[in-house]
Amino acid sequence: MRHGVSFAVAGATLALYVGVILVGARLGPRALDYGWHTGPKVEPWRMARVSGDRAGEIELGRRLFDETSVYSSAGVKSRISCSNCHLEGGIAPYGLAVVGSAQTFPQYSKRAGRQITLEDRVEECMTRSEDADALPVDGREMKAIVAYIDWLSEPHPQQAAFVGRGLEVLPKMTPDPVHGADVYAAQ
Ligand code: HEC
Repeated sequence: MRHGVSFAVAGATLALYVGVILVGARLGPRALDYGWHTGPKVEPWRMARVSGDRAGEIELGRRLFDETSVYSSAGVKSRISCSNCHLEGGIAPYGLAVVGSAQTFPQYSKRAGRQITLEDRVEECMTRSEDADALPVDGREMKAIVAYIDWLSEPHPQQAAFVGRGLEVLPKMTPDPVHGADVYAAQ
């Protein structure tokens, strides 16, 4: 009888473990698919692990990017973060990703009327989009944000290239104010 109970407990524990593993496998990394996506199929791309000397600076950059008003000294009046527009820390396909941005600077800016650097572009978002004070170009915070974007932009030879820079052109949609109200309330 005692043995019967032990076997039942062992069996139940095993079943629980197998169940957790199976659920984990189903929830594993998948390519993002937003349904209305019209571009090429999004390939799996993953952030590299951060290690070595730069880890602390990149981590600070990630925090500044995700929670700008919490970590930045540049009085963010809007209390908005880079990640509110550059979704998921700047890696969401067609969500204004900054993966690969490092390679596109310096570039000519129509707004500035001159060649601008990545630091200039970050500063534009800081002062215009965030309604914050400018960050000192050689300061710790600017260096950390640029280090984060540089790190995200590094090519990963073993992986598919990142697909999904910029924004998606949305198909024509029929306005639906009722559904719109649900989305507004949820977001
Ligand atoms: C209110 C929305 C908003 C916020 C907040 C914002 N940005 Fe932007 N950002 C944009 C838009 C819009 C663009 C232009 C995208 C384009 O030209 O395709 C842009 C462009 C950029 C680019 C150039 C990307 C490229 O590849 O050309 C960088 C880098 C950037 N932002 C960094 C930041 C950083 C860092 C922060 C936070 C300090 C930030 N942004 C906050 C909206 C925002």
